[in-house]
Amino acid sequence: MFVTKKLGKVNRELTKRLFEARSVTLILKKDFSQRDVDVNEFFKFYNENSCQEDRYKPLTEQDYDRFLSTRAARREPALTRQITSLAYKVGKEMISLAEGMPNEQVFPFTRLSMDTKFSKLVLEGKDLAAALQYVPSQGLPALLSELRKFQSEAHRPPEVPRDVLVTNGGQHGIYQCVELLVEPGDPVITCEYAYTGIHSTLKPYQAEIIGIPEDEDGMIPETLDAVLGERLRRGLKMPKMMYIIPTGSNPTGTVLPEERRREIYELACRYDFLIVEDDPYMFLNYTDRPIPSFLSMDTCGRVLRLDSVSKVVSAGLRGAWLTAPKPLLHRLELHTQAELLHSCTLAQAILLQLVQCRKSLASHLTNAREFYRERRDALHAALKPVEHLAPYTMPDAGLFFWLRVNGIEDVYNMVFHTAFQRGLMLVPGQAFLYDSNAPCPYLRLTFSKIRHEDMDTAVSNLVEIIREEQQRAQQKPKRVATEG
Ligand SMILES: Cc1ncc(COP(=O)(O)O)c(C=O)c1O
Repeated sequence: MFVTKKLGKVNRELTKRLFEARSVTLILKKDFSQRDVDVNEFFKFYNENSCQEDRYKPLTEQDYDRFLSTRAARREPALTRQITSLAYKVGKEMISLAEGMPNEQVFPFTRLSMDTKFSKLVLEGKDLAAALQYVPSQGLPALLSELRKFQSEAHRPPEVPRDVLVTNGGQHGIYQCVELLVEPGDPVITCEYAYTGIHSTLKPYQAEIIGIPEDEDGMIPETLDAVLGERLRRGLKMPKMMYIIPTGSNPTGTVLPEERRREIYELACRYDFLIVEDDPYMFLNYTDRPIPSFLSMDTCGRVLRLDSVSKVVSAGLRGAWLTAPKPLLHRLELHTQAELLHSCTLAQAILLQLVQCRKSLASHLTNAREFYRERRDALHAALKPVEHLAPYTMPDAGLFFWLRVNGIEDVYNMVFHTAFQRGLMLVPGQAFLYDSNAPCPYLRLTFSKIRHEDMDTAVSNLVEIIREEQQRAQQKPKRVATEG
């Protein structure tokens, strides 16, 4: 490391103060009637009654080497970035001729104010200057401290050296994990239908997707075990990475129950792979039962967890963070250095305030969850006439209904021709297959933005479209094998 131990000691106090520095002033609006949410219960993604699995040994620093891609292993720290980190740690008595930072006095902004539904964010003076300046690649130090605290309180992860990296949205975290772990041609475990962002990231690597089927409770651990056991028996290359959305999966809407999460985690230890837990819908769990995260079970240091506030605070803010074992996090930070220096400081300063005010955040997230729950219920009620044509399971979390259209092998034409011409936009299931040219009978419907008054019209259109398509499918001449 660049910092000597002595220097580190002398500046510990100063560093602490700097890290804890508030870069934004927050004034709570008096007239905002917040919900009185039990913060500890709300942010609870662990099970205090579960006993920790100790059958498998935690991975050591050297163990992680075998998971690193060649590219990730080649990364080296830039000295200038280390100096930026140092600049945040050392005291004012240092005279610096080192940093390549711009002088904030040339920045044109003098005050930035932003009202939320429950508060007022004001940035000015030194605070504004800090929020407009370069920061260490890992993230705004005060935000990192807050996120570390948040993760340890909300997930109570087992004692494994871990840390947090601020990312530019959850998608950026996905990209980072793939770049960190995947070699061209590598096998990667996902659900059979998976978020498009993992596929588009993996395509250039020509990865082999091991797509595990789901039932209404998500990925089926027994199938995963059977598939991996078979690969091992046949001497095929084994996967180093699983990508999974445990709560309100995109596109299937499933929620993995705790038991399955434990089974899958056990398989990760047994077959030696890492789990990328992408959980942007965790606050949209309509069952109100807390479900322990993979991170909360991670006794061996096998989980890279992605958090994002895109679905509940702002998608444009790109507020997200990645939690991973330290040896991996260090590599990810080097990636950030090379790729974007760091995520937007202004966005980080805003995120800091949101995460810091846990009570307001819990209250806001409860409102957001209620808002979406109500829409889910409304679309569910509106979908009644579709049920017998395209059955689905009501999603317990997230934003999606996943319908299997009866009697149609492939919904592609129906979505892009018939439905589109009638002014109805849908997503065909193959959008979530690695091979998006494969035929697929599924449709994904999103209830996040459709207006209530449009729901019935959308559904009656959908009924007509499906009926027509089914009739067309029946009229299609069947292929008959002819002799000779
Ligand atoms: C499962 C999943 N992961 C990641 C993302 C990307 O989110 P972000 O805005 O945080 O990049 C999405 C967005 O739809 C998603 O559904």
